[in-house]
Amino acid sequence: MPCFHHKTIMFFKWHLLCVLSLLLQPCLATAQNNGTVRVGQYISAADNSQPWFSPSRDFAFGFHKLDNKDLFLPAIWYYKIPSKTIVWYASADNPAPRGSRLQLTADRGLVLDGPDGQELWKSGITMSAAASGFLYDEGNFLVADANSEMLWQSFDEPADTLLPSQIMERDGVVSSKRSQTDFSRGRFQFRLLQDGNAVLNTINLPSGTAYDAYFWSNTYDQNRSNAGLRVVFNESGYLYVVRENNQRVLLTPETIVPSQENYHRATLNFDGSFVLYTHPKNTNGNNGIWSVIRTMPDNICVNNDIREGLGGGICGHNSICTLNSLRRPNCTCPKGFSLLDPDDPYGNCKPDFIQGCEEDEGKSGEDLYYIEELKSTDWPTSDFERLTPSSREDCESSCLKDCLCSASVFRIDTCWKKKLPLSYGKMDPDDGGTAFIKIRKGEANGKKKRNIIILVGSVLLGSSMFVNLILGAATCLGLLIVNQKKLTRTQPHEGVSHMNLRCFTYKELVEATHGFKEELGRGAFGTVYKGFMDIAPNNLVAVKKLDRVFHDCEKEFKAEVNVIGQTHHRNLVQLLGFCDEGKNRLIVYELLSGTLASFLFGDCKPNWKLRTDIAMGIARGLLYLHEECCTQIIHCDIKPQNILLDDYYNARISDFGLAKLLTLDQSHTSTAIRGTKGKDDWIFSLKMILMPSMTLISCRGL
Ligand SMILES: *[C@@H]1O[C@H](CO)[C@@H](O)[C@H](O)[C@H]1NC(C)=O
Repeated sequence: MPCFHHKTIMFFKWHLLCVLSLLLQPCLATAQNNGTVRVGQYISAADNSQPWFSPSRDFAFGFHKLDNKDLFLPAIWYYKIPSKTIVWYASADNPAPRGSRLQLTADRGLVLDGPDGQELWKSGITMSAAASGFLYDEGNFLVADANSEMLWQSFDEPADTLLPSQIMERDGVVSSKRSQTDFSRGRFQFRLLQDGNAVLNTINLPSGTAYDAYFWSNTYDQNRSNAGLRVVFNESGYLYVVRENNQRVLLTPETIVPSQENYHRATLNFDGSFVLYTHPKNTNGNNGIWSVIRTMPDNICVNNDIREGLGGGICGHNSICTLNSLRRPNCTCPKGFSLLDPDDPYGNCKPDFIQGCEEDEGKSGEDLYYIEELKSTDWPTSDFERLTPSSREDCESSCLKDCLCSASVFRIDTCWKKKLPLSYGKMDPDDGGTAFIKIRKGEANGKKKRNIIILVGSVLLGSSMFVNLILGAATCLGLLIVNQKKLTRTQPHEGVSHMNLRCFTYKELVEATHGFKEELGRGAFGTVYKGFMDIAPNNLVAVKKLDRVFHDCEKEFKAEVNVIGQTHHRNLVQLLGFCDEGKNRLIVYELLSGTLASFLFGDCKPNWKLRTDIAMGIARGLLYLHEECCTQIIHCDIKPQNILLDDYYNARISDFGLAKLLTLDQSHTSTAIRGTKGKDDWIFSLKMILMPSMTLISCRGL
């Protein structure tokens, strides 16, 4: 008799089980599960996959499809109420593609496997084999072994919500989402610290380092005898901290609606507010809106008064927090500032101008800046000087005149002068003070900005290696993002009409360039000249004379120019118009301050932050060209000379789309380039991006 190794048998059994469960799939999928989940049972990530239910069907456990994405998260939600309210989710930083499986396995517990079988998430480490799972009417999913010993429960790994009958021990963490629709880890936490305090705090992303608390339960005890031991959400819907002497410190108001007829939940929202909600179980006539029982902290903007001044606060640096009618925070950038990440309205704001003693070059502050007044506003941790006694007028003018000062706050008889970044910004109607914020007049001077940033970053070395790195990084990032987005590609909008593309006469362009007098550069597709036209924001344009272009394909030329003209992205150089007269074919772009090449190989070396920002910019531009714009465009000639930089060092890709234009009459070389769909084409195009740049850099990097 052959001697099978124990593991082999297990393995064999396991596969048999898999095969069996495959065969049984239709019946398993539709089976009434009554809360119980057997080993081998699974749910597929698809639009209408049947979830697992708790016995009363109060809760369902299945896949939640992310908005605007073809990605799914394993999640538990209230099944009976109209608005889908998710109380638990997993694998948020690694969402599951369509076709993934959430399965209860004997050897790995509850697992989430991708379509290719790769493990995306699993429920902790299992010491013994899992035998069954159960979704309770409390919204808890539990995995047990054959002796009904608990191996894992979802209540021990909370997402952003706590539910009645859930307990959080010391070091337990509830994390907010990034935004309403983005389930990845956000900036806020509710934690029970080792010292017994239950706190709300912000964290640094992505490192996860916690900043100071903006709310605390005051269950801290120096002598430990009375410190908070655990956070309990009891069956009746009361949330409290239990001290070591069993005393309860309620976070819920004294009286609440009974839990027999009402759902209760405590959710840490993506804006940092920790809210206790209730919803009637009987939804007849209810519109599915959760009532707020309590919001913690009471005024999140004012509580945002953190002593050590680390982290940006509820709103990011340079932002101002105001409370809305639902007692939730709103964040706004002051005038002259804008969001660093436009997709994160609760994040940092950056000044749209550069300010400093060197930039001011001895000019008087009154000439360069004006003051914007903000009532009841303060950034309490950004002081560098206090003047007392002071008058309102003195406070305003002393900041205006001081090149170190970015804002000042006047209250009663005292003036606080502030420096950037302005942190923990808040608008508090009870604060009688007034803030004065300094804003640079008119458009800041681009040339000046350049010098400053280069000075800052001039310590770092630079060589053609860096270009490789930057472009390599950009391409990789592009690839990563593309891979993520590949599944999410939406149907392109067809039939977009001509944009604001202008058709110039050759004569107009001769005039604009003063007879093609000033040559800016020579590339594979033609020569670029400097021109002057009032259609560009700064009156400057780049006119590119295409030299080796096709003859009898006027239609294609126009069509292609239209395709390029329809692109609009902040990391692409904008096409303004074209000229198509006989054999004169020209295109007109906006003209930017410099190229990446001159920037990298110039005397002053940029810093790493700037380098990564530029790489990210290039990646975004490429992603847009490859995946997001109406017609897929492949560049084929990415190199530092083709990356332009604007006054704010935003990378802008130029010359895109020309490869296709150029190859219109060279079909033997262009078939692969012109392919648009499929993996091979994508890899090919990637090579096309990577290789020309590499060779060009090594051949004529400087
Ligand atoms: C939950 O806590 C509240 C407040 O301490 C208490 O009145 C209630 O009896 C508790 N309910 C249960 C089921 O323990």
